Amino acid sequence: MQAIQAFLAADMQQVDEVIRARLHSEVILVSQVAEYIIASGGKRLRPALVLLAAGALGYRGTHHYELATVVEFIHTATLLHDDVVDESNMRRGRATANALFGNAASVLVGDFLYSRAFQMMVSVGQMRIMEVLSDATNIIAEGEVLQLMNCNNANVSEAAYLHVIRYKTAKLFEAAARLGAIIGGADAGTEAVLATYGMHLGTAFQLIDDVLDYSGDHTEIGKNVGDDLAEGKATLPLLYLLQNGTTTQSDLVRHAVENGGLTEFAPILEAINTSGALAYTRAQAQIEIDLATNAIADLPASPYKQNLMNLAQFAVNRNY
Ligand code: IPE
Ligand code: IPE
Ligand code: MG
Ligand code: MG
Repeated sequence: MQAIQAFLAADMQQVDEVIRARLHSEVILVSQVAEYIIASGGKRLRPALVLLAAGALGYRGTHHYELATVVEFIHTATLLHDDVVDESNMRRGRATANALFGNAASVLVGDFLYSRAFQMMVSVGQMRIMEVLSDATNIIAEGEVLQLMNCNNANVSEAAYLHVIRYKTAKLFEAAARLGAIIGGADAGTEAVLATYGMHLGTAFQLIDDVLDYSGDHTEIGKNVGDDLAEGKATLPLLYLLQNGTTTQSDLVRHAVENGGLTEFAPILEAINTSGALAYTRAQAQIEIDLATNAIADLPASPYKQNLMNLAQFAVNRNY
């Protein structure tokens, strides 16, 4: 990850300048909340994806800085909303915006960032780009609602879980890579290749996020562990236990998913750690990453392509 950040340092500085310029609002609470979450950093993976995909196709202009910002704003808006829905109180190593400013401010400033992103994409003036971003945003919203419907349900299938993560997370990675391709002047086939890469990368990224929700170090991930269990979210490690655990283990998980809360966190963690549930989830992430890297194998060799490969490795090996 450090290598990717070093490679993109100059470009990311440009993106940061666009972010700063476009964050502005005369309404003080909007500026405060938006500043708060943006200034807390984050890995900036999705803008990196726009820049790397564009660069891999030989793009050397400056329009990709705007698109990278649009994608980061959409991501940030989903985080503001997601933390309200998930009742999370820690992100990026700080109190979440909802914990600090309240749910109402978080939802409304999330709306501000979404609509600012839409103003910016309209100003880019390409119908295809508007189409990709509006479709992605719509799918993300569906993914979050689908997930809400699955909460406290221990009977969700692995396929249903995969559907949720492809929508809520992978879609924006797909859009980011696709936008880089479009701005890089890709033909339809190459655009599809980058989109496939992004989709599998994003799926792997969320699978590992779901691993880290049980195994991560909260000072490294900057979020609380156990948030998924607390809200009765049956992510893949739990689905694995439901299918492959002992009767005692699957009864335990079923009860915890149906009732939410963290009273059973310790025994569930124990079951997760002894059952191979995390190894299984990581293996699924590795399958997605192999699909991602295979998809872009035929792109011409370049440092940009190499960094797309590095990003894929980071997505499975990361601990933050
Ligand atoms: C968090 O995404 C939301 C998920 C899709 C898991 P990131 O882990 O990319 O969040 P930041 O931007 O680095 O904080
Ligand atoms: C994140 O899902 C997906 C979106 C923000 C759309 P999670 O709820 O798993 O992400 P974290 O763990 O809060 O970052
Ligand atoms: Mg969440
Ligand atoms: Mg999570």
